[in-house]
Amino acid sequence: MFKVNGDYLNLQGSYLFSDIAKKVAAFTEANPDKKIIRLGIGDVTQPLCPVVIKALHDAVDEMAVKETFRGYAPDLGYDFLRNAIVEKVYKKLGAVVYADEVFVSDGAKSDSGNIQEIFSRDSRIAVCDPVYPVYVDTNVMGGRSGEYDAAAGVFKNIIYMPCTEANDFAPDFPDEIPDVIYLCFPNNPTGSAITKDRLQQWVDYARKNKAVIIYDAAYEAYISEKDVPHSIYECEGARECAIEIRSFSKNAGFTGTRLGYTIVPKDIKDENGVTLNSLWARRHGTKFNGTPYIIQRAGEAVLSDEGQRETAEQVAYYMNNAKYIYEGLKGAGYKVFGGVNAPYIWLKTPDGMTSWEFFDFLLEKANVVGTPGSGFGKSGEGYFRLTAFGTYENTVEAIDRIKRI
Ligand code: MLT
Repeated sequence: MFKVNGDYLNLQGSYLFSDIAKKVAAFTEANPDKKIIRLGIGDVTQPLCPVVIKALHDAVDEMAVKETFRGYAPDLGYDFLRNAIVEKVYKKLGAVVYADEVFVSDGAKSDSGNIQEIFSRDSRIAVCDPVYPVYVDTNVMGGRSGEYDAAAGVFKNIIYMPCTEANDFAPDFPDEIPDVIYLCFPNNPTGSAITKDRLQQWVDYARKNKAVIIYDAAYEAYISEKDVPHSIYECEGARECAIEIRSFSKNAGFTGTRLGYTIVPKDIKDENGVTLNSLWARRHGTKFNGTPYIIQRAGEAVLSDEGQRETAEQVAYYMNNAKYIYEGLKGAGYKVFGGVNAPYIWLKTPDGMTSWEFFDFLLEKANVVGTPGSGFGKSGEGYFRLTAFGTYENTVEAIDRIKRI
């Protein structure tokens, strides 16, 4: 008889956003006349920008011609995109990254979930709490959970770093030294950011303790403050200890198109001199057959000067929504955070409601969908996340409805 991976049984319910989708579907079925506004999952609403559409069309046309048709893409990414990432993203920041350290993928969600495979099963993993659920869930799926302590709401073998109002939603160094540290800034879900000095302290900490930082920079395009770094490679020594994950979803609207990349510098080595770069290349090449050519051409277009201008307009559009949500809720007496360097607003639930109670309350009374903070971890209890990725019109209507309840 086959045996299942018992660690899956330690996971609660289904994936957070699938749970929410099910609840919303049930509500919609019971209330077909209500107009629901979705500010839950961080999915974009603005169409792909013109330069990207043109690149997609051109690439499709190439596929129709014998001389320019392409089959399998190189598993680690086409050189034109890997080189463009080095030139247009990292050189611009003064950061040293080489093309063979860029691994092109179908998005940051996959990479942030898969990267744990290259670390030993007994690695100690530190995560922020609240946290993007993929980091914890995939480590549990990878057999690192220990048991789930339902009373405490934590997995025994995972180190949680609380991010609360007291520390401005940025973690302190944990008491126990981890092997792998996940950091996401600007942060999902709290919308917080950290300064370059603080990130440098994390890099120093990781080097001193021979730990690896997995830095999720999916939201870097939303940074508006000068002292907030766009990449961990702006910090000295990060090439020896940090992997960076990037996405085209939030900065260029590729949530449905799928494109991301991960930087694994060759300078990160274990005690025997094994590079993580070689392990990730091995893993990527074995399990992934490359992001489609037409999508990589679209990504290249995002990085062109015109693409940078057009996508910056989209980011500004969403940040205008963020401001509307932040100020609207603050004016209505809510305690609100985030929204300055990130497209997420994190609010304290009113009247001592739990996160899920507030979710139901908002859905029922305002027909607005958000994300319960407790879905991101125990320290998220009593908080709620709204995304700025809706249309402006829906965002205004949602906030007006919330103000009226
Ligand atoms: C979120 O809502 O947290 C994100 O959209 C999830 C994701 O990017 O996978």
